[in-house]
Amino acid sequence: MIAIDVKAGHAHKQRDDAVVLALLDGRKLTESGKALQQETGKQIPSFLRKFDHSGDFGVSGTLYDLEGTFTQRVVFFGAGDEKKLTLQKLRQLASKAARSLQQSGARDVSFYFSELGVRGATVAEKVQALAEGVWLGLYTFDKYQTKKKENNRDLRSITLMVPSRRDLDECEAAVARAKAIASGTNFARDLANEPGNVCTPEFLGDQAAALVHDKLKVTVMDKAAIEKAGFTALLAVNQGSAKEPRFIVLDYQGGQQADAPVALVGKGLTFDAGGISIKPAAQMDEMKFDMCGSAAVLGIFKAAIEMNLPINLLGVIASTENLLGAAAYKPGDIVTSYKGVTIEVLNTDAEGRIILSDALAYAAEQKPAEIIDFATLTGACVIALGAQASGLLGTGEDVIKGLEKSGEYTYDRVWRLPLFEEYQEQIKSQIADIKNTGGREAGTITAACFLSRFVDDIPWAHLDIAGTAWDMKGTDISPVGATGAGVRLLIDYLCRKL
Ligand code: BES
Ligand code: MN
Ligand code: ZN
Repeated sequence: MIAIDVKAGHAHKQRDDAVVLALLDGRKLTESGKALQQETGKQIPSFLRKFDHSGDFGVSGTLYDLEGTFTQRVVFFGAGDEKKLTLQKLRQLASKAARSLQQSGARDVSFYFSELGVRGATVAEKVQALAEGVWLGLYTFDKYQTKKKENNRDLRSITLMVPSRRDLDECEAAVARAKAIASGTNFARDLANEPGNVCTPEFLGDQAAALVHDKLKVTVMDKAAIEKAGFTALLAVNQGSAKEPRFIVLDYQGGQQADAPVALVGKGLTFDAGGISIKPAAQMDEMKFDMCGSAAVLGIFKAAIEMNLPINLLGVIASTENLLGAAAYKPGDIVTSYKGVTIEVLNTDAEGRIILSDALAYAAEQKPAEIIDFATLTGACVIALGAQASGLLGTGEDVIKGLEKSGEYTYDRVWRLPLFEEYQEQIKSQIADIKNTGGREAGTITAACFLSRFVDDIPWAHLDIAGTAWDMKGTDISPVGATGAGVRLLIDYLCRKL
């Protein structure tokens, strides 16, 4: 990740390769823009007069060799209507600006964006959003492209200019927070973008083990250990795969020893072909992303370590492939889970809830203060909410309210669906305790009903990230592929507890 620092100072004095300013609707200059214009005479007004846009969001224009400055170029970046600015718009603006300067040949640049008005936000909050936007937006996953694009002068540093020296301390802390959050998010993206032949359950276990740290203990169970522990539901899904499963436990002790941890549980399907109830071929490649829940959990631990969060966390990940080998589990099979609950398998493609049943039951046994799980669980959630929000369901009212608040603040958004008692009817089995599908109606809800059977009475929230975990078009702050959904959300949620 490139270097970001914070400074206060006038635009006309900067010696960077580029000075980047915002331009508001109607070609209106910001305070820094006005100050620069005062120092430099007629060039800016005449440049802006010829400018063929009026400050529309994300559109830019470059003015070279502005007299009275020390920089090669001044770039005006449209920020749109100042009244409509939000922290998310700042992330997008910083990302767009960083991406466009990446191709310009400039190495060291300064952004005058933190002076833009966002209702209710402090300078430090704006700086954090800007830094997140830069680091999230510049993320790439190109390790498998053997012919790299020639870029002889890569962007090297971005200075986020702040209005006053008094803001510097707080803004430096804000950049450090953004760095931890972005590195956790980008780590989750890296894991998820790996193809299924590289990112196997064993690989996930190794990646988790590599996070070990003074405050973090990691236990990775192989197949023999999983058999011994009795994670039979995970083993049932694993039957069709030639690769061993993994059960991963992370224990982060940042808080008081006696404090019950927040448990984070992740679905780690490194490839979901559907099993015997095989999926259609179209877009099946995207099912390498079916481990994004586990990637989010690992990304959150990475960020928590980097931020030295004073809180206890328990991570639990169940990981396997869902394939069609000769020993594969079949529709009609009855699986007795780790908790003892019997599951009638009606569709082998509803495998996520099956492996999560063991992970959640194990997490609940550890008596955490609350449980939050992350899973690319249902296609129905993609239909309901699309890519704009993760599904949120559960039994812990405070957890859910907290996640809703953090979702709004971070723009890693969530939307609640109900978990009415009546929906539980849909997963009643004639022959076992429960069945693993609840029919076409309310598919996201009945999947959550299934999970609810394994969390005892511990306050619990479930995040269905099926629609948000990856994006094959890419967004302003996330290129094509995994988005790292859930990491920003949870770090904010955990920080609000401190
Ligand atoms: N991993 C899928 C859910 C999924 C589908 C996520 C598409 C993202 C995009 C999950 O294991 C699954 O296959 N769920 C089934 C459940 C059904 C058989 C009850 C589904 O949603 O179709
Ligand atoms: Mn499936
Ligand atoms: Zn799946």
